[in-house]
Amino acid sequence: MDSQNKIIDESIQGTALEMTQINNPEAKKLYLESYGCQMNFSDSEVVASILSDEGYQTTRNIDDADVILLNTCSIRDNAEQRVRNRLTEFKIKKERNPDLVVGILGCMAERLKKNLLEEEKLVDLVAGPDAYRDLPNLIVEVGTGQKAVNVLLSRDETYADISPVRLDQGGISAFVTIMRGCDNMCSFCVVPFTRGRERSRDPQTIVSECRDLFERGYREVTLLGQNVDSYRWNISAKGEIKNPDQPTTNFAQLMEMVALVSPLLRVRFSTSHPKDMTDEVLEIMAKYENICPYIHLPVQSGNTDVLYRMNRGYSREWYLERIEAIKRIIPDCAISTDIITGFCGETEEEHQDTLSLMDLVQYDFAYMFKYSERPKTLAERRYEDDVLEEVKGRRLNEIIEKQLAHSLASNQRLVGSVQKVLIEGPSKRSDEHLCGRTASNVMVVFAKGSAQKGQYVNVQISDCTSATLIGEIV
Ligand code: 5AD
Ligand code: SF4
Repeated sequence: MDSQNKIIDESIQGTALEMTQINNPEAKKLYLESYGCQMNFSDSEVVASILSDEGYQTTRNIDDADVILLNTCSIRDNAEQRVRNRLTEFKIKKERNPDLVVGILGCMAERLKKNLLEEEKLVDLVAGPDAYRDLPNLIVEVGTGQKAVNVLLSRDETYADISPVRLDQGGISAFVTIMRGCDNMCSFCVVPFTRGRERSRDPQTIVSECRDLFERGYREVTLLGQNVDSYRWNISAKGEIKNPDQPTTNFAQLMEMVALVSPLLRVRFSTSHPKDMTDEVLEIMAKYENICPYIHLPVQSGNTDVLYRMNRGYSREWYLERIEAIKRIIPDCAISTDIITGFCGETEEEHQDTLSLMDLVQYDFAYMFKYSERPKTLAERRYEDDVLEEVKGRRLNEIIEKQLAHSLASNQRLVGSVQKVLIEGPSKRSDEHLCGRTASNVMVVFAKGSAQKGQYVNVQISDCTSATLIGEIV
């Protein structure tokens, strides 16, 4: 896979997950595969927890599985295509083992509902993102020879009381979901339809989950939500206090509560929304060394008219003002973004505005996509998907080329500096090397010496590519 595809496809890779557990040959085996965003990976940990209470043990070996669950993504058509292709690979497994349960979870389940059963004959079970508590019943239902579906969306489900089973086995960095759903209705986006209304999780349960992770050796948490800046507890959408006897919490305050768990616990978050990101959040980031100076602030387009059609709620000028605020309050903050190219009606000039905005901001990293029309979205109903495929492709290449140059320049600026790195484990390429991230979220590879996973080390950076820094411990 070339580097361009790597950037584009990173978000829709399927990854098999396994929890660390004492092996019990009698236990029913669950094989879980996750696609798409970090939220899906985090949800899979909730699913593993719910099913482990029912005696299931996860396995990395699909041939051992009694139940196969794919936690799916609908964000672009190719994400769904990937899952459909994967399902065809299960055909032989089903023929060999008629009792095998194959289930679809996540956004595709919610989007296609019971149609999925008709379209994909191999699927026995369909469960949307708010229906995971019902999974044990749904599996039993399948056991009685029926197909099982639960795609009810909820206004208050946050799985707050469920202690996720950590599936990564790295044991250093964990995702912690702080809110679910999205009320934004960006015109291109299917998420409001698949994940429902926005709701925030009780801050006390978030802080205790982070504290528990720290006590178990984790050294980094990423607070997750579709739009973390609109996190609010005990505050209504209109900004009124719901229960005067209880404290209120906004995102800045929540982040401070998590930062105070320990100065040794790194705090990250994703995703911010330019229309909602406040100076208060930036000031809290500047105040705590353990809140990493890194913000993922999706711009989507550098042109105000396109942003209007996208229903993003901000202009090019507003976005650039927010970038200035970041640079003023947190001078060394790394910034990454998402860009969609070839959105409905995008002219050459509008595309040039995206390129010029990239030059102004100089992103450290970006996820870049061709626009993919999604059923039922505002854009599908209101605008024509009229940018030719080859034009989309050419514009995407121009954007990727620019970003690779900016990422390389951003990494080159770090050559010669000393970076504090949290060690995540052995590097992919060599057992003699370790890897970990800088606070600004760049991967660093270095000779291992006597250092170990979970430690902080100072690394002198001597070289780089557009994706990785290379250095040695000092
Ligand atoms: N087509 C292409 N990209 C999309 N994204 C969301 N919806 C679409 C779509 N229909 C991108 C946005 C978002 C990221 C998660 O995926 O850039 O920020
Ligand atoms: Fe989709 Fe916009 Fe919500 Fe992000 S903020 S999930 S792009 S609707």
